[in-house]
Amino acid sequence: MPDVFANITAASPEAIDTIARVLELRAALPQQQQMLRAYLQDIEFPPASRVLEVGCGTGAVARVLATWPNVAEVVGVDPSPLLLERGRSLASGVPHLTFETGDGRALGFKDETFDVVVLHTLLTHVPEAEAVLAQAHRVLRPGGHYLPGNCRRRIAPARWAREVRTCFFARRS
Ligand SMILES: C[S@@+](CC[C@H](N)C(=O)[O-])C[C@H]1O[C@@H](n2cnc3c(N)ncnc32)[C@H](O)[C@@H]1O
Repeated sequence: MPDVFANITAASPEAIDTIARVLELRAALPQQQQMLRAYLQDIEFPPASRVLEVGCGTGAVARVLATWPNVAEVVGVDPSPLLLERGRSLASGVPHLTFETGDGRALGFKDETFDVVVLHTLLTHVPEAEAVLAQAHRVLRPGGHYLPGNCRRRIAPARWAREVRTCFFARRS
């Protein structure tokens, strides 16, 4: 069965509506919230951090990031204008959060401009995922972190937080 996320701009408005609802429902699960918070707690966000979420969908993760301690600005990027439209509406009133249409394999940001780059359940959906990682590395400041959070392995929800918190990298140079 083809992965709808791999060609998200071809999805119908009806399919996008379903995807948007599922993404929000998933993000509301206690296990998902625990997993996200567990790995965010492992990162040192420098004061006034600038954070990028690539493949943000409806922005469920970006909204958490926007209120995380030390975070001054969050940009969510996704190829789907319809998901971003939903994201903007769900984020009304959330400070410091903006959304931009874009492809993680060709980000339109300058080099070394973000302190943290989050790829939450993205990489397994993108053909040429290594191009996304290369772009994440390019836009990260040296010493910044990128978080390729994924949990496709069959593990019990109770173990998600522990498994995923090992999954981040720091840019050294
Ligand atoms: C499983 S969803 C995760 C959404 C969000 N990160 C979350 O956890 O709620 C995968 C997202 O990746 C986006 N996506 C697909 N191809 C992409 C690409 N080439 N670059 C950036 N994002 C992409 C999809 O539109 C979708 O919103």
